[in-house]
Amino acid sequence: MAHDPLRTKLCDMLGIEFPIISFTHCKDVAVSVINSGAFAVLGEAMHTRDEIAADIQWIRERVDGKPFGIDLVLPASVPPSDTLEQLIAKIPEVQKEFAQQIKEKYDVPDPKGPIALHQWGGLNQDMARAQLEVLLDERVPVICSGLGSPAFLLDAAHERDIKVFGLIGKTRQAKRQLEAGVDAIIAQGYDAAGHTGAMGTFSIVPEVASIAGDTPIIAAGGVTTGRHLAAALCLGASGVWTGTLWLASRESDVDMIVKEKLLAATAEDTSYSRSISGMTMRTLKCPWTDEWMKPEAPQVLPPPYQMLLSSDYIQGANDNRRADLMTEAAGQGVGFVTAMKPARQIVFDIVEEALTAFEGVTGEVD
Ligand SMILES: Cc1cc2nc3c(=O)[nH]c(=O)nc-3n(C[C@H](O)[C@H](O)[C@H](O)COP(=O)(O)O)c2cc1C
Repeated sequence: MAHDPLRTKLCDMLGIEFPIISFTHCKDVAVSVINSGAFAVLGEAMHTRDEIAADIQWIRERVDGKPFGIDLVLPASVPPSDTLEQLIAKIPEVQKEFAQQIKEKYDVPDPKGPIALHQWGGLNQDMARAQLEVLLDERVPVICSGLGSPAFLLDAAHERDIKVFGLIGKTRQAKRQLEAGVDAIIAQGYDAAGHTGAMGTFSIVPEVASIAGDTPIIAAGGVTTGRHLAAALCLGASGVWTGTLWLASRESDVDMIVKEKLLAATAEDTSYSRSISGMTMRTLKCPWTDEWMKPEAPQVLPPPYQMLLSSDYIQGANDNRRADLMTEAAGQGVGFVTAMKPARQIVFDIVEEALTAFEGVTGEVD
């Protein structure tokens, strides 16, 4: 093979060396990945305007002008402007009682402080728009939308030289976003951590790539090795978008209890359910996800109500570091996350594995 197979149009668009994108909530991971030649997108859906502005500045001070992205959730299917109290008041008694039964059965402690998920941009559209304003004001290089179409912000972003990436789980969502003019599509399959659709990564990536023309497609869902990266490029992607891969990295601020759970977990330890947010989501199994799977469980509530219900359990477990209760979003590739490596090492290992994979198929590569 005459050219470097890892030099893709995504690399050219972003000015990066390796076509690997880290989605992370941890600024230290993001900076380490960016300074290793790959790209990072910081998840800010749970932060206020001021926190987001401070994080952007923090990253800028450490990456020497290299680009980075910020991810928000911009869901269309939630109430436009209800207050938190109004939303909570709408939760039906049946589901509230079931949540209370889980709390009693597992002795789930109360959260120790204000509930972080109450800041989530997915709770109402006003919250998400306030978060978005700061990204436009700060002219961050890339804005990503993890939920909901970013089509409405394309003009404002492009006027400011900001690129917009949309994450999709269905081909028809990709088609709409491509028609609207997004700069790249993240095609995410069922294997993924967090909110994800029902189509497998191996199916959605080539299907979306086949309609994308020159727009780069980024494969997501289950990518935790260089072999996944090589395969994603062969499926028509120009890079990979990864989340689970970084959770147990040395720099990651994920609780050590959860890191240990992740290092021990395999795909079978993940659960795909609507019980956390009302939307299909993959996480490590925990009593909350198990109980809502049972036949006697009431109907899961639509977004954003189920999230308001689960957030008390999640934060109670986290604040009190209850290993038996804690959970985290995790994808089916988690079985390959077996060591707590520095993020820089993860980047280089993936690159080397991908080149070895290509070499195995085609002979020598540059
Ligand atoms: C802990 C965690 C939290 C996540 N939160 C978000 C989020 O807030 N917004 C978002 O767009 N994606 C979120 N994701 C999904 C990632 O962006 C990414 O699509 C997913 O992790 C890809 O699958 P993988 O984990 O198998 O690599 C999250 C993933 C993880 C692991």
